[in-house]
Amino acid sequence: MLLEVNDIQVHYGKIAALKGVSLRVDAGEIVALIGANGAGKTTTLKTISGLRPLTSGRIHFDGNDISRMPGHLRVVAGIGQAPEGRGIFPGMSVQENLLMGSYAKKGARDSGLVEVYELFPRLAERRSQAGGTMSGGEQQMLAIGRALMAQPKVLLLDEPSMGLAPILVAQIFTIISEINRRGTTVLLVEQNASQALQLADRAYVLETGRVVKSAPASELLTDPEVQAAYLGGDLDTEMQMDGDRRIRP
Ligand SMILES: Nc1ncnc2c1ncn2[C@@H]1O[C@H](COP(=O)(O)OP(=O)(O)OP(=O)(O)O)[C@@H](O)[C@H]1O
Ligand SMILES: [Mg+2]
Repeated sequence: MLLEVNDIQVHYGKIAALKGVSLRVDAGEIVALIGANGAGKTTTLKTISGLRPLTSGRIHFDGNDISRMPGHLRVVAGIGQAPEGRGIFPGMSVQENLLMGSYAKKGARDSGLVEVYELFPRLAERRSQAGGTMSGGEQQMLAIGRALMAQPKVLLLDEPSMGLAPILVAQIFTIISEINRRGTTVLLVEQNASQALQLADRAYVLETGRVVKSAPASELLTDPEVQAAYLGGDLDTEMQMDGDRRIRP
């Protein structure tokens, strides 16, 4: 097991955003975390990367208890994060943005650049261009590339497909799959549950700060409750076509 989150609670002031979340990610896996707005997906990732403190519970990574470890040391330990909303530096060039990613792990700098430019030829072409002038899809690639610069063992991705046109969404998912194929474990938060579940090995469903389901992704894809709540109500349509024999509680 690479990452184990054990019964964590996280508060914003008095409000509990996570009410005892547990999950695990094994080396080599792609694990998806899905759930509605406000369910606690971003909070879960931020707590794993050390951007939010936990109130109780434990996080183990690569054999060590990292529950109280500062965020920059978690980067060194092998936790990389591409944050929600990308968070790139608009006035800095693409390459300067990427180098910020190896700040905590300077030894990784040159090999990191080679690898990121290989994965994202577009970033190589635009290495001198200001980050803020890149398109939405390119900025997302830059955010992922920056997280890869420290050569993480696990990559935490928060809604990488947000705001992207369908063709770019497909590209981003292909790249995530390629990053995983090259050996990086991935924990993926997505509103785009259908695509996330098609890519992932396993998934967790988060509702108001709790895990309500966890299963192989292929099982969740055909789970009626998951379909109704997160997959655009495909099941409803199917059942209506089947003579409207829907049974509702
Ligand atoms: N900085 C903050 N201050 C106060 N409450 C917050 C803060 N950030 C998040 N919360 C609250 O914590 C809960 C979980 O938020 P979080 O951002 O983790 O959800 P999410 O699943 O990522 O949602 P989304 O799909 O909208 O990104 C929500 O109720 C949210 O309002
Ligand atoms: Mg979020």
